[in-house]
Amino acid sequence: MSAQSTQRRLTTTDIASRKGGEPIVSLTAYDAPTAALLDPYCDFLLVGDSVGMVVHGLPSTVGVTVDMMIMHGQAVMRGAKQALVVIDMPFGSYEASPQQAFENASRILRETGAGAVKIEAGTYAAETIRFLTERGVGVMAHVGLRPQAIGVTGGFRAVGRSPEEVERVLAEAEAAADAGAFAVVVEGVDEQLGDQITSAVSIPTIGIGASASCDGQILVTPDMLGMFDWSPKFVRRYADMKTVMSRAAEQYAKDVRDRSFPAAAELYHLKAKRLS
Ligand code: KIV
Repeated sequence: MSAQSTQRRLTTTDIASRKGGEPIVSLTAYDAPTAALLDPYCDFLLVGDSVGMVVHGLPSTVGVTVDMMIMHGQAVMRGAKQALVVIDMPFGSYEASPQQAFENASRILRETGAGAVKIEAGTYAAETIRFLTERGVGVMAHVGLRPQAIGVTGGFRAVGRSPEEVERVLAEAEAAADAGAFAVVVEGVDEQLGDQITSAVSIPTIGIGASASCDGQILVTPDMLGMFDWSPKFVRRYADMKTVMSRAAEQYAKDVRDRSFPAAAELYHLKAKRLS
């Protein structure tokens, strides 16, 4: 009999059952060691297509591919043991038809072992969400500021400034919930609209730059770690990793130039001596 871990990984139904309950904690993750560090504190980890910007240095999320999401998803699954892992479907991988979405979603889940996918949900996406959930694919929706839609919105700007926009975002969240999404990310809306959506839908809302009353919160991990000079205004920085890394690299460079760095050959020599 093989030894089995007693730790159970959270599922989409665990997250869905937290509506109105204990707040859901989530962060983005893109690699195995970071996922392992965040895992004990998070209910779910999102392999966000923000990976394109914060890891690959792309100007937006539009250039991210299914292959990139699969590679990062596999790494996160190796690091995370208890959190549900959700993987973003990148731009161009689900919008053409429900069939296209199923082909790519099933490939992402099959090749990574992750528990669910996330899609940015205009109202048109309801049909796709229903198609996927009826075929066993867990779907998290994403409404409000939709980074993949910058081609029509013109950039990263808060959403819900006009009554029409408020109505549209509310309709998108309700349509996603009715179609079977197990949770919905609400990004870049004012507090009032965040509250309205949270009261209106039967599934947990996960806020990012939305409202403290959402059923959970998510942040882009490098933003909350203070990796960059700039981050969105709503992000609380819990560390100053940019300074920590720069200082460490500076000290390392100084040690190498001062030749105060132990040569690998010396270390191997010492080890060999101890073994003999
Ligand atoms: O890609 C991402 O990191 C996201 C979060 C902003 C929710 O979608």
